[in-house]
Amino acid sequence: MHNGMSQPEPDLDAILRSREPGHGLPRAFYQTEALYRLELDKIWHAGWLFAGFTFEIPKPGDYMTLSVDATSLIVMRGDDGAVRAFHNVCRHRGTQLCRNETGHVRAIVCPYHSWTYSRQGDLLACHGMHDGIDKKSLSLRAVATETCAGLIYVSLAERPPAFAPLAQEFGPAALPQGFERARIAKVMEYDVPANWKLVWENNRECFHCTRCHPQYVHANFDVYDDHSASDAIRAQMAAAVERTSSKWAVQGIAITHRHGGLAPFPDPDRDRWFAADRTVLAEGFQTESMDGQRVAPLMGDYQDWDVGVLRMRSMPNFWVHASCDHAVAARLLPVGPRCTRVRGYWLVHENAREGEDYQLDKLLPFWSLTNEQDWDICKWQQKGVDSIGYEPGPLSKRMEYNVDAFIRWYLKHMENDGQMTPLSRVA
Ligand code: FES
Ligand SMILES: [Fe+2]
Repeated sequence: MHNGMSQPEPDLDAILRSREPGHGLPRAFYQTEALYRLELDKIWHAGWLFAGFTFEIPKPGDYMTLSVDATSLIVMRGDDGAVRAFHNVCRHRGTQLCRNETGHVRAIVCPYHSWTYSRQGDLLACHGMHDGIDKKSLSLRAVATETCAGLIYVSLAERPPAFAPLAQEFGPAALPQGFERARIAKVMEYDVPANWKLVWENNRECFHCTRCHPQYVHANFDVYDDHSASDAIRAQMAAAVERTSSKWAVQGIAITHRHGGLAPFPDPDRDRWFAADRTVLAEGFQTESMDGQRVAPLMGDYQDWDVGVLRMRSMPNFWVHASCDHAVAARLLPVGPRCTRVRGYWLVHENAREGEDYQLDKLLPFWSLTNEQDWDICKWQQKGVDSIGYEPGPLSKRMEYNVDAFIRWYLKHMENDGQMTPLSRVA
C-alpha cells in the first residue's frame, strides 16, 4: 500500500469454510483478489475450457486467441490439419506473439526480434543469436487441446482431466446439429461487471425468468416445476413429450429432459462437469425466436424443424442452446474478481447467407435480449453482494437446486487439499 501499511492476507481456508449449507455464498467469494487467484489455479487452469469452434479456423495457419485472465493462448490449425494450442508467449524474452483475436499466418513471427515459429509451434529461425542455440528445446509451449463435434477445448493443466467422457456424451448429442458445418452469423462480446460465479448462478436457475425474461419464457417450460405447473401446462408438456419421443427416436435424436425446470447440472457428487440434453419447445415454437417462427435454414442433419432444443454445457465456461435452425453459445472467461468476459455466438448453417436466408433482426433478439437481461441482473447482484449489508439468503429447493449444485461443485474443487488435482483426472 502507498501509505506503508500492508493489508492482512485474507484467510482463504476460512472463506471457503464460511458458506452455510443451502445458502448463497458470502461476500468474500465475490470480491477477494487472492481467492480469485486460487480459482484460476484450481478451476480455470485445472479443467477443460471451451475455446471456440473448429469451423472458425478451417485452413492451416488460421488461428484464434483467447485470454484466461492474463494468460493468452493461440489456437491454430497446423499444416497437418490438426488443431493445437500454444501459450501466446515468445520463447526469447516473452513478448506476446499474436495480437489479434483471429487471423492467418504462414509462420508466427515475433514482433520484437523476429524469432519465427512454424504453424506447429516449432522454432524455425532465430537470426542474430549465437551458435549452438538448441531450437528443439524452444518450441512454443503447447497447451492440451481436444476437439469434439466441432467444439475446441483447451486445458492449461499439466495433466488434464479425462476428456473422453465429455466427447462420449457431446459427440453423439451434437452430431445432428452440425457444429462443424456451421458459420458465425454474429458474435457479441460483453464485459459483464460481475464475478464469474454470479454469471453461472444466474444461468443455473429459471426462478428469475418470469420476471426478467418475458420473451424467453414463452418458448419453453424452464420456469415450471412439478409444484408450480398448472394442469394445462402439465398437459401441454406431456403432449409435446409424447408427440416427439417416438418421432425423434426415428431420427436418432432423443429427448433427455422430459420435465419442466432445468435439468440437474452440475453434479458435484459424481463430478459431472458437462452435460447435454434435448428438451421440447412450447406449443407454437419451432425455434427459440421471438415469435417461434424459424429464422434460418435448418442446421446440420436436421430434416425437420421439430427437434426441440439441444442444450449443452461444461464447467467452467461454456453453454449452448441449439434449435433446428440456429444455435446460440456462450464462452466465459475470467478477467478479474468483478469482471467476466462473455462471448455470445449466433451460429447458422455454413451455406446460409445474411439477407437472403436469414435476417439478423429476426435471428438475434431472442437471445440478445435474454443475454443482456442476465448480464444486467449479474451487474446489480454484484453491486448488492459488494455491500457490507449483504448476508447470503436461503436458496429455493424447488427452483435453485442447480445453484446449490454449482456452489457445491465449486467448493469441492476449491477445497481439494490445496493442490491442482481435478477430480476427474485420468487414473
Ligand atoms: S521476444 Fe520474441 S524474438 Fe525477442
Ligand atoms: Fe436468465
